[in-house]
Amino acid sequence: MIEEILPPGVRSAEAFDDLAPAPLFPEEEALMAGRRQRRRAQFATARACARRALTELGLAPVPLLPGAGGAPRWPDGVVGSITHCDGYRAAVAARAADVAALGIDAEPAGPLPRGVLGLVASAGERAALERLAAERPGVCWDRLLFSAKEAVYKAWFPSTGRWLGFAEAEVCLAPTGTFTAKLTPTTPPPRGAALRFSGRWLTRGDLLVTFAARADGA
Ligand SMILES: CC(C)(COP(=O)(O)OP(=O)(O)OC[C@H]1O[C@@H](n2cnc3c(N)ncnc32)[C@H](O)[C@@H]1OP(=O)(O)O)[C@@H](O)C(=O)NCCC(=O)NCCS
Repeated sequence: MIEEILPPGVRSAEAFDDLAPAPLFPEEEALMAGRRQRRRAQFATARACARRALTELGLAPVPLLPGAGGAPRWPDGVVGSITHCDGYRAAVAARAADVAALGIDAEPAGPLPRGVLGLVASAGERAALERLAAERPGVCWDRLLFSAKEAVYKAWFPSTGRWLGFAEAEVCLAPTGTFTAKLTPTTPPPRGAALRFSGRWLTRGDLLVTFAARADGA
């Protein structure tokens, strides 16, 4: 599913359950020690997906441990992203020479819990969601906006090491399956930080997925 929204050069793998064997490296096992079985299974399946994506790039499978802020540490010269939600796990990877920064997110295709939209969307974004719902009913536009922001955050954080609040990104969703994001960080971002991202979205069955990448390609 997710490969349908990825640009050339981005490899992916996904799973809809935790049934396939997903062995962990000892350092990853150590991280999961004492964690609940559900988290271990989700973590392991997502890592199996990530290693499949790396293999497709022609790279050897390696441990993928969390670095600062929880972002996974990818091999040198590689950018990647991981997501999991009920019934879905996925990972993508690309050569940094091809894609400077990327992020993915998956969510259940249902409305956000009551009260959450007000925390993640500006007045302008909420008005846009109403227009989108009138134009294309049946899409969970509020959840999609949330997912797009999560994907943008996962693309933004690894290269900046900076937290980004939901109000610091204005996302514009298009009914045709694309979106753009303009960032306005409240503190000056590191030199060269991307402030514009573009992405794609897809909803199918009970799931929706988003992909974001630095828009200027730098
Ligand atoms: C980090 C965050 C984006 C994860 O999203 P989520 O929907 O909760 O969970 P997902 O399953 O989709 O993603 C989890 C994976 O994201 C990755 N991740 C975690 N922190 C990350 C970070 N700072 N940067 C990039 N990737 C990160 C990890 O690979 C993690 O999986 P793992 O722990 O198994 O390795 C979310 O919890 C969060 O903190 N959001 C607030 C910040 C934000 O989104 N701001 C919006 C600004 S526009």
